[in-house]
Amino acid sequence: MDMRPFRPADLDGLLELTIATFGPFYEESFRGIVGDTVMVNQHGNWREDYRNQWQSLNDPDNGKYVIVAEDHDEIVGFIAWTMRQPKRSGEIEMLAVESGHRRHGVASALCAYVFDDLRRHGIEVVSLGTGGDDFHVPSRAFYESLGMTRLPVVVYYKAL
Ligand SMILES: CC(C)(COP(=O)(O)OP(=O)(O)OC[C@H]1O[C@@H](n2cnc3c(N)ncnc32)[C@H](O)[C@@H]1OP(=O)(O)O)[C@@H](O)C(=O)NCCC(=O)NCCS
Repeated sequence: MDMRPFRPADLDGLLELTIATFGPFYEESFRGIVGDTVMVNQHGNWREDYRNQWQSLNDPDNGKYVIVAEDHDEIVGFIAWTMRQPKRSGEIEMLAVESGHRRHGVASALCAYVFDDLRRHGIEVVSLGTGGDDFHVPSRAFYESLGMTRLPVVVYYKAL
């Protein structure tokens, strides 16, 4: 497995991986928990939202970076993060590993790369937000495997 910085030619493949990874969250987990009205109102255009988000996820002039993990020239994962040097803090914006390549240390290697990079830039703290739902069980287990501290946050919705 190799890691390298994002290239513009990666965009379509990364968007596809993002949609394949997080589709089950929006269409099954989130919709199942909050119902159709809230789902459509909040994330009815989630595919388009990702398309837009990817336009600015890699923007080094504004402290935003992406690296990809490759296996035999095929992208199998990525991580996007933000570095806020004035606050000496960083944030993981998005992380995904292709389903057939999970539990082989890909995300661990991506995070190790990012944490080293942040440390080299004098960053003292890294954070991220993830879900408390069943879709995110692997995600929570993963971040806890890195020794990160969990802060529970609860979000409420009501269809009016
Ligand atoms: C979360 C995710 C990125 C982990 O990627 P990964 O490459 O499989 O993670 P690693 O192989 O580096 O796992 C390292 C450790 O994390 C923990 N872990 C990872 N996945 C786990 C799972 N499904 N169940 C329990 N523990 C898990 C384990 O301790 C694992 O070590 P081990 O395999 O030696 O037991 C991947 O499952 C994924 O893409 N999920 C969907 C997208 C997502 O939830 N992204 C994060 C949202 S913020």
